[in-house]
Amino acid sequence: MSLITIIIIILSSSSSSSYIINLPKILREDASHNYTIASSQFLKTHIYYINPRIQQLTVFVPDNQAFADASAAGYKILSIEDKYFVLKCHMINNYLSPSLLRNYTKMWHLHATMGTSITGNEKYTLNMTTTVNGSVEISNTVVRAIVTGTIYDRYPVAVYGVNQLLLPRELPVILPPPTADVSTTAVCGFKIFALLFFIFLIV
Ligand SMILES: *[C@@H]1O[C@H](CO)[C@@H](O)[C@H](O)[C@H]1NC(C)=O
Ligand SMILES: *[C@@H]1O[C@H](CO)[C@@H](O)[C@H](O)[C@H]1NC(C)=O
Ligand SMILES: *[C@@H]1O[C@H](CO)[C@@H](O)[C@H](O)[C@H]1NC(C)=O
Ligand SMILES: *[C@@H]1O[C@H](CO)[C@@H](O)[C@H](O)[C@H]1NC(C)=O
Repeated sequence: MSLITIIIIILSSSSSSSYIINLPKILREDASHNYTIASSQFLKTHIYYINPRIQQLTVFVPDNQAFADASAAGYKILSIEDKYFVLKCHMINNYLSPSLLRNYTKMWHLHATMGTSITGNEKYTLNMTTTVNGSVEISNTVVRAIVTGTIYDRYPVAVYGVNQLLLPRELPVILPPPTADVSTTAVCGFKIFALLFFIFLIV
């Protein structure tokens, strides 16, 4: 019994820490130095950790030039809650590897974003397509962005650079405050650990 408990504790503690992907760190350390603004924006809005064990994810990350563009001026004046939502509109709850992305966009598709799941309606989707010159284009109803490179790709997480910030035309009125996304699972993992340790003690 206690041996099983110890094994469960080890499994539980490893799942809560070792496989976590730190998105801002990946962006900050990208050799192109083109995603440093995005890195600080993901940090400020508390979007840090991706737990590949529980989440498939594709993220389209605007490069520094995109944040500097006049079209992104509206973003700069948003509240943290709105910025969080806008960044969530760049994220998809599925893993699209570079080859899947190519395949998927041979014909245009509308794909729900994590902004769609926050609002719980059909809005805030991304239209994903391939342009005549073969580039992958990601657009909302107002902005078109081209995928310019792969920043990170390891199942089940893919991170791509895009040349535009996909600012939606309008934002939902009421938004939940930013949450430290998957770090909550780390906390949860710790709780399981504590609970099992307690069971271990009383057994
Ligand atoms: C970084 O961004 C600049 C400006 O958009 C671009 O010219 C350059 O090719 C990018 N570098 C890399 C490695 O993607
Ligand atoms: C892409 O589509 C082609 C056929 O259209 C298929 O043979 C290939 O396996 C697909 N690749 C992926 C990664 O899904
Ligand atoms: C998605 O983009 C394609 C290519 O630009 C366009 O033909 C199509 O109408 C768009 N779909 C929607 C629903 O906006
Ligand atoms: C392909 O066309 C888009 C505009 O439709 C342009 O922004 C992009 O730079 C082009 N890509 C290449 C590789 O020429």
